[in-house]
Parts: sequence; structure tokens; C-alpha cells
Amino acid sequence: MDNRDNELRDKIMLLKDQKKAIILVHNYQLGEVQDIGDFVGDSLELSQKAAGTDAEVIVFCGVHFMAETASIICPDKTVLLPDLHAGCPMADMITAEKLREKKAEHPGATVVCYVNTTAEVKAESDICCTSANAVRIVEGIDTGEIIFVPDQYLGHHVSSKTGREMILWPGFCPTHTRILPQHILERKREHPGAKVVVHPECRPEVTALADEVLSTGGMVRFTREIEAGEIIVGTEVGILHRLRKENPDKKFIPASEQAICPRMKLITLENVLWSLQEMRHEVKVPEDIRLKARAAVDRMLAYG
Ligand code: 13P
Ligand code: SF4
Repeated sequence: MDNRDNELRDKIMLLKDQKKAIILVHNYQLGEVQDIGDFVGDSLELSQKAAGTDAEVIVFCGVHFMAETASIICPDKTVLLPDLHAGCPMADMITAEKLREKKAEHPGATVVCYVNTTAEVKAESDICCTSANAVRIVEGIDTGEIIFVPDQYLGHHVSSKTGREMILWPGFCPTHTRILPQHILERKREHPGAKVVVHPECRPEVTALADEVLSTGGMVRFTREIEAGEIIVGTEVGILHRLRKENPDKKFIPASEQAICPRMKLITLENVLWSLQEMRHEVKVPEDIRLKARAAVDRMLAYG
């Protein structure tokens, strides 16, 4: 952190206390934003943290669906997203209306929605999941058809792990699909002893080359525990800040430097400070939608 960052951080800390706020930060955020977080984590950990906090205000340093999920869980708290343009393009690849059409084609199917969806889509779903618990959640569904939305690649990964065929939505993450098999092969050639960890939003040809396919929180735990000195990381590059900070004795190599999520990077120290000063932008979900979405999120949280 330079002097300007330190100054901004001091102002943020002061206001945060005055407003009884907590700052929740996703693992893909800019390093300086991660460094001011009360908690840094993956989508599941962040929703668990939102569910457990007694703060009055949650400043969400992540993308819109994450703030929305916090608001679904904590309707009495003020949930702030410092930049409303920080949306997830994959979440916008399905609408509630399109999902209703798909459900009509498969009456009786269980709908599993990735947390990377709008509240309206969650409200049309039976159970929510994140990349950390998707396999366990699908394993817990006894029989019948499953519609999995919107990430076809996470869906593919879950199918391969559970042996369950699912009806997949053709959504994808524009950031993770930039990582190609040749990137992994090149990095492996350059670092022959390295372990390869990738996110399940990657293409199947990429996950097939990995030692581990993990959520970002899973990557944090896995890299903490292993002996290996070199780890090739196939996910958004923001996580490297945390991995390097927590494991100074290990070397982290991005599978691709191009795996950047521009929307995640819209959150800055400047707009976090502004957000607390102006109490904007508040993310709130209409109560009828919230209650239905909450049922899907609660079923997920019950898995622990
Ligand atoms: P996780 O941090 O839950 O693994 O999710 C990655 C992601 O793409 C969030 O948008
Ligand atoms: Fe969405 Fe991909 Fe960015 Fe995650 S990394 S917020 S899935 S676009």
C-alpha cells in the first residue's frame, strides 16, 4: 500500500466503525481492497459470513449477485455495493422468464442454480449452490431430472463427479473460458514439478489437466496445506495476491495472465470510501422475490 492507499484506508476504517459496518471482500478483488477487508473469501464463505454478522451495514466488495445474496439473507441490514456496474456477465446469461420456459419443458425437474444468478432466478430455483458445494448438493438430490443453471462448465464438472446427467444451461464465465488447455500445458512445461489447481468454471479440457478442481476458498486451503513449492493457478488472477501473501515460501504461477474479471476490478478504495460516506449503492430485493430466493439459499446454507 502506498501513502494514498494508507490515507484512504484510515478514512475507511474510521467511517466503518462509525457506521457499524463490516467489509466483505471476494478473493478476486484488487489487492489493496482485499487488505482492508474484515473477511476475504469465496462466494459460500461470504454468504455464511453475511448470515452470521451483527454489523448494521455490509459493504460488499465483489459483484452484484453477491451483494444481492447478502441482502436476501439479511433483509434488515443495509447492503452496499460501491459500484453498480460491478455485475457478473454469466449471471446475466439467464433470466427468470427463460428459466420458467425451461421448467415448463421439464415439469417436476429439480432446479439447481449457481449463486452467480439474479435474485429473480434464485426465486425460480429449488436450491442454490456455489462452486464449493455444488457436487455435494447435487449428490443430495435423490431422483428425477435436474436443471442446472447457468454455468455449463460447472454443471459439466458436477456431472462428471456425481455421475448425474443434468440439463445444462449454456452459460459460461467469460474470464475463466479465456484459460485454454495450451496455457496449462505451457505452464507445466515451464514448471514440471508444479501442482495445477483450477476453478470449475474453466472448460472441461482445462479441468481435465488439473490436479485439483476447487472453489477459490478451496484453493486457499489446498495451497496452505500442500508441500509443493510451485502451484499453477487456473482462475481469476486477483486470488494470487492472497495466495502469495499467505504462502511466502511457495511460488504461484497464473495459468493465464489474461484471466481478469473486469467487473470485479471496478471496486476500489476510492469507491469503498464513497460508498460508506454516501451509503450507496444500496442493494435490496423486493420482498416477494426475496422470500422465494431465500428458500433456495437457505437450503444451500443448511448443507454447511
Ligand atoms: P468462488 O469464489 O465461489 O469459487 O466463485 C468464483 C466466482 O467466479 C465468483 O464470481
Ligand atoms: Fe462472473 Fe466470471 Fe467475473 Fe466470477 S469471474 S464474477 S463468474 S464473470
